[in-house]
Amino acid sequence: MPVPTLSPQNSTPTSTAVAAAAMTNETVPKTAKLTLGDQEIDLPVMVGSEGEVAIDIRQLRAKTGAITFDPGLGNTGACLSKITFLDGEQGILRYAGYPIEELAQKSHFVEVMWLLLHQELPSAPQLSQFTHEVTHHTMLHEDLKELFQSLPKVGHPMAVCAAAVGALSTFYRKEGPHTREQNWIDAIRLLAKMPTIAAYSYKHSIGQPFMYPRNDLSYAGNILHMLFANPCERYEVNPITARALDLLLILHADHEQNCSTSTVRTVGSSGANLFASVSAGISALWGPLHGGANQAVIEMLMSIRDGKRTAREFMELAKKKDSGVRLMGFGHRVYKNYDPRALILKQACYDVLGQLGRKDPLLDIALELEQIALSDAYFIDRKLYPNVDFYSGIIYKALGIPVDMFTVFFAIGRMPGWVAQWLEYQADPEARITRPRQIYMGPTPRSYKQVAER
Ligand code: CMC
Repeated sequence: MPVPTLSPQNSTPTSTAVAAAAMTNETVPKTAKLTLGDQEIDLPVMVGSEGEVAIDIRQLRAKTGAITFDPGLGNTGACLSKITFLDGEQGILRYAGYPIEELAQKSHFVEVMWLLLHQELPSAPQLSQFTHEVTHHTMLHEDLKELFQSLPKVGHPMAVCAAAVGALSTFYRKEGPHTREQNWIDAIRLLAKMPTIAAYSYKHSIGQPFMYPRNDLSYAGNILHMLFANPCERYEVNPITARALDLLLILHADHEQNCSTSTVRTVGSSGANLFASVSAGISALWGPLHGGANQAVIEMLMSIRDGKRTAREFMELAKKKDSGVRLMGFGHRVYKNYDPRALILKQACYDVLGQLGRKDPLLDIALELEQIALSDAYFIDRKLYPNVDFYSGIIYKALGIPVDMFTVFFAIGRMPGWVAQWLEYQADPEARITRPRQIYMGPTPRSYKQVAER
């Protein structure tokens, strides 16, 4: 098979995303010409609202018989979306056009949820109604408690949360098509009940009674109450802790087509309901290359604090391919610059530790690792910078959140993103079941031999 060449028409051939991004709407060609042997076809070129250039290959196989090869899908746009914009080269993140820095400073998590779901900020009555909904549908069906109790206490809370979210389908889903109304009710349920599920997964693991949600508290305040209160004592939510948690939730709320969000969309593309789709997303998030990195980072910092090896020794190991060690909380598929969320969280580490009157040697170790990395050719050449998980754990730890629960908090934060992306997919008239192809490299046809002949 001849190797194809692909170049935008009427322009110098270009191979880098940066070069494509430099084109303006006026200079972007309407089509890209693909030459495959003696075949030549024109493929439509699309431009996103922030100038992202994409070649529409939907007709590629029908016209040429060829498919594309893109393991990890790093060059593949799988959907059109209006929810989140991310520019990895420049380190920009915006939810529906609003810069993450501004939302972190001026907004709050419940408002951000609405923003992601509607791609507009809510009016005052909309916000008040929505706040009521997501803080009043918080209780779980009493029978669901038995699910938690049936699971081993040593089980990771992410596994428990995935199971409990999937199990919501058994309580709430009716058979039949997903209507907009039904989807919205499910969305509210999930957003309201996820903190309760998260807190129950923790309470079960430590053998304490489940604390019912308190609907008079803020979204973040209620999470802290369900996690830390017990029936024997009065528990007051510390506003500093609640605000810090709210900030963490805002920063995790969406991040376009990452592994777990793509999973949620993929599962939803088969017609599976929202609870089933999000349960799969929680499982995807759990992995250490994705949301599980926040737990892995703190464990890495603790191992250095406890003298297993020095920061410099660790960094040498992280550069060796065969060591199996990576600098956790560093690097990103899309960011080739400082993750803007990490920048906010680094400052928040100082703020929160200061406000709570704490010191944490892990922050000093993280700063040392960052300083070594940012002046080391290995990390510079590969454009590896701190990502959202590098500093978040230090804040969770300062808030008293157990290490095993860090990724669960990522899941609470990511919930509106998953829900918004799932709803967007369901409403997309061009959406199809996700079904990639493969390039088969296995044996060609051969005849079966009876076992005695093998
Ligand atoms: N430490 C050491 N080397 C690294 C690291 C790291 N953290 N990240 C990437 N590299 C190297 C990698 O070995 C490869 O080197 P080479 O070109 O010599 O083969 C190069 O950098 C490119 O890495 P990649 O694995 O091809 O990049 P990717 O886009 O497939 O993976 C990543 C992205 C985030 C999985 C990866 O950077 C990583 O494993 N980071 C550590 C885990 C982590 O912090 N994950 C959280 C991601 S952000 C939040 C989220 O999504 O949940």
